[in-house]
Amino acid sequence: MKILLINGSPKGKNSNSLKLANSFIEGIRQTKASAGEELIVDEAELASLKIASCKGCFSCWKNTPGKCCIPDDMPMVMQKMLSSDLIVWSFPLYYFNVPGILKNLIDRQLPMSLPFMSKDGGSTGSGGHDARFDMSGIRHVLISTCGFYSAEGNYDSVRAMFDHFLGKDNYTTIFCGQGELFRVKELSERTGEYLNLVKKAGAEYAAGRVSEATEGALKELLYPRDVFEKMADESWGVSQESGEKVSEDLIFTRQMAALYNKASYDGKDRVLEMHYTDLGTSYQILLGKDGSTVVTDGSLTTTTRIDTPFDVWVAISRGEMSGQEALGKGLYSVTGDFSLMMYWGRYFGGSGASTGGSAPSASGKKELKNPSMASMLIPWIAFWIATSMFGITGAAVSILIAAATPVIMLRRKQVIWDRLATASVCLLSVLIILGADPHMIGSLGYLVFAAMWLGSCVAKRPLCSAYVKYQFGGDIAYKNPLFMKTNYILATMWGILYVLTAIWSTILGRAGLGWLLMIINNLVPMGMGIFTAFFSKWYPAYLASGKGKSKL
Ligand SMILES: Cc1cc2nc3c(=O)[nH]c(=O)nc-3n(C[C@H](O)[C@H](O)[C@H](O)COP(=O)(O)O)c2cc1C
Repeated sequence: MKILLINGSPKGKNSNSLKLANSFIEGIRQTKASAGEELIVDEAELASLKIASCKGCFSCWKNTPGKCCIPDDMPMVMQKMLSSDLIVWSFPLYYFNVPGILKNLIDRQLPMSLPFMSKDGGSTGSGGHDARFDMSGIRHVLISTCGFYSAEGNYDSVRAMFDHFLGKDNYTTIFCGQGELFRVKELSERTGEYLNLVKKAGAEYAAGRVSEATEGALKELLYPRDVFEKMADESWGVSQESGEKVSEDLIFTRQMAALYNKASYDGKDRVLEMHYTDLGTSYQILLGKDGSTVVTDGSLTTTTRIDTPFDVWVAISRGEMSGQEALGKGLYSVTGDFSLMMYWGRYFGGSGASTGGSAPSASGKKELKNPSMASMLIPWIAFWIATSMFGITGAAVSILIAAATPVIMLRRKQVIWDRLATASVCLLSVLIILGADPHMIGSLGYLVFAAMWLGSCVAKRPLCSAYVKYQFGGDIAYKNPLFMKTNYILATMWGILYVLTAIWSTILGRAGLGWLLMIINNLVPMGMGIFTAFFSKWYPAYLASGKGKSKL
């Protein structure tokens, strides 16, 4: 298959639209490669070619039929057009139409038409000329970005023109608003998602046609209109009120503020203060119900403050540095309400932080929910209560509950600790059924439980982290020293607690103080649970404030 990519952006290689066109072709390449088909891609970069405007002399119809009298690059492009199977027209929207350099090329196609009026009135019935050469086998795709928030309603003239010369419904389009965002590195996560979608469209196109689902997804806005327009207005670096130039750090902060997702508002106004330590500047961002506002006079009461060198924050925003790692290394510090940092993705949109819910997968199947620690705890709790109260019968009940837990938790992902809990409880229960002393086996259970917690620390992934990482962006949390250190400490504490539980359970059990054990073994984990809830919030915030930096 031969593709001619016509890059009609005056920006040449720096074109936003070209990024989409390249992704589309990448998708085609993928499909063709899996079918073992060769793909040849030729590019006509109009910005670096000489294609003058048509003189309107009609000599290509009268004097030298099929040949233009202007000696420039157009004959070469025409040859390429005629020998392609697919032409990808990539261009920006300029004044609701194609840029001049592309219009030149379109006008200069005159030699490719016959001079006589088409008998059937052309593709739209309003008049036309038949093609001089057989171009019926050539497919066409139009790919374009524009500067407004949406492509909707902005491409009417483009469509009208291409309908006439390519034929209505004879071409595929990908028109995308917010085009200038494709060159903003800080937004590459979101624009990357879109480019992947364009690539998918390319792969589908090569296999036949772009699916309705992909077409629909391509029409979705990159960002909501208000977010985009705020970012776009700030990007010019000029104050709307005074017309004066705005400093780079203020532009950056305002654009960051524009990304605030007001749907994350939880009834509490927050004020994020960005203090750029190297520049000595501070800006406050009010995050409220109706959106965000940047305040430069420090008049608000800060709830979360970030002290950071400006370039560090820029590098994090561009994805050149992991924010969590940088925080762990003390490259910046956070004081005040730490919850904003923990759920940054939720407030500032699409950083990939998981909220713990389940989303439909690409295949349309519902994905499993994130693991729950309940899957690991239910078998153990059932085992300790049932066997201490009902001995052998309790052991049988424990086996049933342990076996039923994965079924009850069917919609959740399972982790190794869930499986180990089920297996351990079943094994220990069998020992009781075979005649072992329930109290002794109960204490052994505490030791096995402790071993799971302590062993997980040796294995470098503290047990609790397997469950709570999803609140901190998934696997990326393993790279976050704050997260890891908090979880190591908690896992070690739980491990030690259960070693102690095993000891006092053995002693008190032998002394016949089972009733006291019942109370202690319920109250102590409850207390530890409350401590865990407190510590998991307080400790990362303490470290992030810079006070615990040296300890990381
Ligand atoms: C002269 C000029 C005219 C433009 N006209 C429009 C327009 O009518 N509608 C629109 O949405 N964007 C318009 N834009 C914005 C571009 O379409 C937008 O920046 C696009 O992403 C540029 O794509 P490119 O990088 O592929 O050239 C215009 C830009 C320029 C420079």
